[in-house]
Amino acid sequence: MEKTLVQNIGLLCTPLGSSVHAGEMQGQMEKIPQACVLMEDGIITYAGSQADFPMEKAQGAQVIDAKGSLVTPGLIDAHTHLVFGGWRQHEIPLKLAGAGYLDILRMGGGILSTVRHTREASEEELLERSEGFLNEMLSMGVTSCEIKSGYGLDLENELKQLRVIKKLQETHPMDIDATFLGAHAVPEEYKEDPDGYVDLLVDKILPAVAEEKLARCCDVFCETGAFDVPQSRKVLMAGKTLGLVPRIHADEIDAIGGAQLSAEVGALSAEHLIASNEEGMQAMAKGGVIADLLPATSFYLDKTFAPARRMVELGIPVVIASDFNPGSCPSLNLPFAMNLGLLRYKLKPEEVLCAVTLNAACSVGMGDKVGTVEAGKQGDLVIWDAPDLDMILYRFGSNLCRTVIKKGRVAHEKG
Ligand code: NIG
Ligand code: FE
Repeated sequence: MEKTLVQNIGLLCTPLGSSVHAGEMQGQMEKIPQACVLMEDGIITYAGSQADFPMEKAQGAQVIDAKGSLVTPGLIDAHTHLVFGGWRQHEIPLKLAGAGYLDILRMGGGILSTVRHTREASEEELLERSEGFLNEMLSMGVTSCEIKSGYGLDLENELKQLRVIKKLQETHPMDIDATFLGAHAVPEEYKEDPDGYVDLLVDKILPAVAEEKLARCCDVFCETGAFDVPQSRKVLMAGKTLGLVPRIHADEIDAIGGAQLSAEVGALSAEHLIASNEEGMQAMAKGGVIADLLPATSFYLDKTFAPARRMVELGIPVVIASDFNPGSCPSLNLPFAMNLGLLRYKLKPEEVLCAVTLNAACSVGMGDKVGTVEAGKQGDLVIWDAPDLDMILYRFGSNLCRTVIKKGRVAHEKG
């Protein structure tokens, strides 16, 4: 049996349980001073006060000294687009000249520029690059994540992206959730026939994805210039029939009804929600839809910030994720998104931590496995160069992550 003991933890801070925390629960946190955590064969068998720990249980364990620091669950990034070719730094002059995100897409740039680069890249090239991104995320405390396709936009290239994600699932230490986002943009070859592309998705690509079991969820970019509500509904319902769980990019730029649609189709989550109105949020609250919020995207696009406080008030479970992608958020720094959760959403530190741990775990279908530090869960945790949670959210821009433990093993240590 392989045992690891993390001892001398100054403060263990974790939500508890396996299902989402909404409303007041979002901020409820177990805080244990002078704690230790024992992991046996990758699973937590003790998490609690060090004084109460029967030391003989740790016989033969590798001992890690947390030196009085804060320990939290490993962070979970529930929304990324990290398998892509090329970058989009050449769009900066357009951005500075005042072109909006959708203007650039209309000019054939934006997502479509990344599609061209992703189609050109080989599976091996995409794999190597994605591994690099995952390693960088790991160094910031992220131990599980979600990855979407959506830069192939044809059968061959969507499958290529999803196979890269599958390889990463098999080989990378992180737990990874795969989402099919074929409805990310209308590809150039269907410019004059967007409904024809929706038919291709429904009739050919989705069945192939389901057949190869390449994704757990199906996502749609429901937005002006991307897919309208009837098109989004069609794709999500077709996916649902094939066993894919619906989720949706909604109200990122315009509130065209995506939040309401998320409730109608029984989506697990609606994501972005920058422009959400009261009606959309009420529908989500009623439908039990998780709000996956992406504050670093608001920051990079220079948009307002999602009404996160109102969502918590309405009892909508809130998740914070990075949205890492080459266009609207070229940063994979989840701790920075957490800082914005505090500074811009005005969420409390405890609400922010829940948004990137337990609630995020539930949004990637792993609530029973990760997202908290308690007996029975996987041994995924972070030792921070910080005495408490406030410090992490306060010192934005620095990587305060000291040691990352994944499945009971040290996966990253600050050099
Ligand atoms: O979540 N908005 C749609 N998808 C991404 C952006 C993708 C891109 O610009 O490449 C997002 O913001
Ligand atoms: Fe996104």
